[in-house]
Amino acid sequence: MKIALGVTGGVAAYKAAELVRRLQQEKLDVQVVMTRSAREFITPLTFAALTGKKVITEMFGADDAAPANVESAIEHIAVAQRIDLLLVAPATADILGQFAHGIAGDFLSTLYLATKAPVVVAPAMNVNMWEHPATQENLKTLRARGVHVVDPEEGYLACGMTGAGRLAATEAIVEKVCGVLGLRHDLEGQTVLVTAGPTREDIDPVRFLTNRSSGKMGYALAEAASRRGARVVLISGPTDLPVPEGVDWVPVRTTEEMRNAVRERAREAQVVIMAAAVSDYRPAAAQSQKLKRGDDRLTLELEPTPDILAELGREKGSRILVGFAAETDRLAENARGKLARKGADMIVANDVTQEGAGFDTDTNIVTLFLRDGREVPLPKLSKFDVANRILDQVLQLRQR
Ligand code: PMT
Repeated sequence: MKIALGVTGGVAAYKAAELVRRLQQEKLDVQVVMTRSAREFITPLTFAALTGKKVITEMFGADDAAPANVESAIEHIAVAQRIDLLLVAPATADILGQFAHGIAGDFLSTLYLATKAPVVVAPAMNVNMWEHPATQENLKTLRARGVHVVDPEEGYLACGMTGAGRLAATEAIVEKVCGVLGLRHDLEGQTVLVTAGPTREDIDPVRFLTNRSSGKMGYALAEAASRRGARVVLISGPTDLPVPEGVDWVPVRTTEEMRNAVRERAREAQVVIMAAAVSDYRPAAAQSQKLKRGDDRLTLELEPTPDILAELGREKGSRILVGFAAETDRLAENARGKLARKGADMIVANDVTQEGAGFDTDTNIVTLFLRDGREVPLPKLSKFDVANRILDQVLQLRQR
């Protein structure tokens, strides 16, 4: 996987060299981007030697003080599209301010705006700067936007003061990066069953009832769980998505097919996550011949489908059971109702009327409702990030 490491101007910039080495040990391909002030503390040559790549130092080509660095004036877009994660370590108060306010002042701040990859920042600065309301406000803004923050440590600082502001330990930063990329192997030995996509209920041989699910949320869960070392069974309604590598893919069409597949494969799973948008109703009698057009009104009689999640909830045992709730109103009330009715350990609720949430989007905005009464609202995140947050919660539930 490819990551960009932004190095900004602070004494801790020298620690970024060690960080590059550790990231490489995790088999990450690192492209270093340095700000002008970072180069006052450490030279690009150090990072070029460690990565075997030109270090990006300028927005538009080389200047006299640095080696040739960018291949084209739109290099930031190319890098933005290429990377799986942007890490900034050390991150100064200045770069946090630029990120929070969308200022594209140099290559790094422009890269932040241009990339859709997850972002991790590891701040390092003087304690007063760290505690200043402006810095804390900027961090709040970034966190609300889904940026991952590796908080600095307390200790003796280069400025001679003591307090919070020292760059987090290299291991803590590497751990966060691997976690966000889903490279931790904390689900090893577990089988995770995920359902994804819509179901189709036939009206006649050419027509069916379905919904707007693209499968993206469920496939992100399958991919994230697989990267974290789980054996994954993905039971999927019809979608156009590529099957994540290493996943045991079971295609189904109707609610009945999904139910049969889930019931059979759930026996081997310690975790079941139902992200599929399952039809609640189906035609009471599917026609064997195409319905003919006529001048009269046509009434379609529907019957309820079996509730797969509720069935599993009744035979839950020690299995962790996670359901979703797609809501258009009274999110918390409906989600809590589903949590109780379906016997799940957790309900992931999304208000599908919100922009950037729900059906056929690359992002989602969810709140996790847990049996012990806790509610964990998450900001707008990529579906892959949402998947990892759900899996973090699942792990916590398994450890109880
Ligand atoms: O696929 P995407 O385009 O990425 O969109 C993601 C999503 C909106 C589909 C996803 O985030 C989501 O909300 N999935 C659940 C959709 C849904 O059917 O919600 P529900 O509130 O109607 O159902 C509650 C739970 O019961 C769900 O876990 C569902 O899988 C399950 N269910 C529902 C009906 C049924 N007959 N059997 C079930 O098991």
